[in-house]
Amino acid sequence: MGGGAEVSLSSAQEQALIAAAFAAAENAYAPYSDYPVGAALLFDDGAVITGCNVENASYGLALCAETVAVAKALGEGRRGGLLAVAVGGLKADAEPITPCGRCRQVLNEVAALGSTDPLVLCVSKDDVRRVTLSALLPHAFGPSHLG
Ligand code: THU
Repeated sequence: MGGGAEVSLSSAQEQALIAAAFAAAENAYAPYSDYPVGAALLFDDGAVITGCNVENASYGLALCAETVAVAKALGEGRRGGLLAVAVGGLKADAEPITPCGRCRQVLNEVAALGSTDPLVLCVSKDDVRRVTLSALLPHAFGPSHLG
């Protein structure tokens, strides 16, 4: 279930989170797709944790930027408090990038732990699409289902 009040960020907060996502994309390891992506997670204590996509010579093992960012956050001990996510790519000129299905589920885990419904900023070069995680992943399966 998407819990939590709707999040809205000031335009300065949005711009900072988007800039963090693009900065993260600079570190992408994407030699196979040549499609560098960055993600930035904003938490309720103001912390921003970023990730980039990490590909592999065994192509199917690629990790998306959002998944890497969530793994970093959980690995640092964060459990909830996720307010917003920005995702953008260095080559995403036309359509804003929206998180893939797996990343929606991975993002839902950390959101569900703190009962928030994060705002997801899907970014292209000249556009920002604002959507809630619960809209991207309605009727999500999460920790509460396991009792
Ligand atoms: N990718 C991401 O990192 N995040 C997304 O939201 C979409 C796709 C990556 C996976 C792969 O390394 C490359 O983009 C091309 O699919």
